[in-house]
Amino acid sequence: MDNNGKNENNANNENNNNKNNNNNNNNNNNNNNNNKGSDMYPPTQKVIERANIKDWDRELKKGEDIETYWASQADQFDWFKRWDKVLDTSEKPFYKWFVGGKINLAHNALDRWINSEKRNKIAILYTNERGDEIKLTYYELYREVNKMANALINLGIKKGDSVSMYLPMCPELIITMLACTKIGAIHSAIYSGLSSVAIMERINAVRSKVLITADGTYRRGKIINLKTPVDEAMLQCPTIQTVVLVNHTGRYNDIAELRGNEIFYDRLIEGEGDTCHSEPMDSEDPLFILYTSGSTGKPKGVIHTTAGYMVGIATTLRNVFDIHDDDLWWSTGDAGWITGHSYTIYAPLLLGSTTLIYEGAPDFPDPGIWWEIIERYGVTKFYTAPTAIRHLMRFGKKYSKLYDLNSLKILGSVGEPINYEAWKWMYEEIGGSKTPIMDTWWQTETGMHMIASLPVSNLKPGSATKPLPGVKIAIVDEEGQEVERGKKGYLAITEPWPAMFRGLYEDNERFKDVYWNFFPNNIYKTGDMAKMDEDGYIWIQGRSDDVLKIAGHRVGAIEVEEAFNSHPSVNETAVIGKEDPVKGQLIKAFLILNEGYNLDMPFKEGYQSTLREELKRHVRHALGPVAVLGEMVSVDSLPKTKSGKIMRRILKAKEDGEDLGDTSTLDDL
Ligand code: WT7
Repeated sequence: MDNNGKNENNANNENNNNKNNNNNNNNNNNNNNNNKGSDMYPPTQKVIERANIKDWDRELKKGEDIETYWASQADQFDWFKRWDKVLDTSEKPFYKWFVGGKINLAHNALDRWINSEKRNKIAILYTNERGDEIKLTYYELYREVNKMANALINLGIKKGDSVSMYLPMCPELIITMLACTKIGAIHSAIYSGLSSVAIMERINAVRSKVLITADGTYRRGKIINLKTPVDEAMLQCPTIQTVVLVNHTGRYNDIAELRGNEIFYDRLIEGEGDTCHSEPMDSEDPLFILYTSGSTGKPKGVIHTTAGYMVGIATTLRNVFDIHDDDLWWSTGDAGWITGHSYTIYAPLLLGSTTLIYEGAPDFPDPGIWWEIIERYGVTKFYTAPTAIRHLMRFGKKYSKLYDLNSLKILGSVGEPINYEAWKWMYEEIGGSKTPIMDTWWQTETGMHMIASLPVSNLKPGSATKPLPGVKIAIVDEEGQEVERGKKGYLAITEPWPAMFRGLYEDNERFKDVYWNFFPNNIYKTGDMAKMDEDGYIWIQGRSDDVLKIAGHRVGAIEVEEAFNSHPSVNETAVIGKEDPVKGQLIKAFLILNEGYNLDMPFKEGYQSTLREELKRHVRHALGPVAVLGEMVSVDSLPKTKSGKIMRRILKAKEDGEDLGDTSTLDDL
């Protein structure tokens, strides 16, 4: 993981670049992404000509005074009341942006446009793996949102109340999110792949009165039932008064099937007026809560607020992807995660762009579906995750070659470091060697891109390049002091940024401890390790904490261990991330089983399936499909510190054949 290998030459890279690899060849590349990063890709003339920002260095200079920079960006919006103060640092780390301002997100994403030439422009272009299509213009979306906003008000939802959603990528999800922001309700979207346990925990944590859900979602030719996990969760969600059901796949055509507190979405909005007042929100009023995994305990509810978030996401999308009025933007990020919130939905609408929403897998009906969609609609900007690219790469050029991808102007990557092979493949096969790839480093907590190039930047595959204008980052040691160039250290953010999260839901202590009190100088700890090269480019070196990155999703080692431990056969578990050529990492679990159990025995007398299979099901039920299990091994003991903490680092080093490092605190080996 450590070798930066900057001396490797291009010829070597070409030779190593086995494009049609069938995935066993580049086993070690995912975290070793830096070892082929010596090539420099300057922007093409065409990209420069079109770019809104032509001079990277000048833009970075402009961002040096963060307050002036972000205030100038905030001017793009329609404010009900302008702010009095750009940044208030008096209650660190509870920073406040655009203090005293009044603004509404939905007003800026919708109402503002319907009085402009964008009124009849397509805002949302929805399609799915069956080829269904729904187009909503700004005016149509505006009216749908207003109807839903009025309906929510009629359900008793007031400013500051939280509304939960468990919905697939369908127009109703976007409508509901915007309806919440219109009336000042705080939305909490639960990714539609998560289990009943996760739904129940997330609803109860924020005490939602309303849940909006759907009957199912399309996935690889099947309909995945979403209602059953909701029904299970509802048995333990006392605050929910109404469940709104989108009859998305048509499973519920018979009203008699609904329970007393359930109502169809269509019925709910029937007869509602299509205008609605936009609640003037304080800049710092909460906008949404989104759960993400950390290194300790249960997932935490990350809180984002109104004005700074809007300013941060709109500015970064416009700059990083050079958004123009004629663009067709496609981000594959599901709205259940931050990429979906910030860049699939909110930022494109705040810029008056058209955003494509796709419901389905990248390889169904065949692995050409994404390329077919790009051709069908003429997508110009395409943003996805390295894991998806690595998956599609395995099918070679066969599918990408079938489609005309010439409409593409800029590509983007998010979620984990993009390894050299995946970068090259995306660049050559998808972008036809003419579209730059914007590698964007950020987090659920940052809300917006933090380290990313601009289209006019010189790119180095595998590096997200430099902090964006208005963003201050350093690579530091445990004391919070900058390390020398080329040395690995903690990636820290040294100055506040507008889209920063403002806390963890009802857990200020954890907010301070995890993120702000780790370094003595109270700069923000990202949880990532990184290096900076001689040109000031940043190379992410993986996480510094017990968080795994599986297919770009964050999974806490402790969550997985708790899920295993809750099974009667398991005494204790330690979990590490094991490198995987497609998913980045998979879970490897070391289990101490209780007396009388072994992994290969039938899990119950008379059953065919083994305990191993049963445990897999058990963990999947607790955590959802995000927690992908690679291996399970049964062990007699686990390495622990003298105070009894599991040392996952030791297991990981052993697994990767690395030096065990400092083992002085280890109890015994
Ligand atoms: C973690 C945040 C940001 C939206 C999706 C993930 C890793 C993210 C990159 C990148 C290297 C990256 C980091 C970060 N990460 N983007 N471009 N290069 N690593 O959001 O689930 O909050 O995860 O993802 O480890 O801390 P998230």
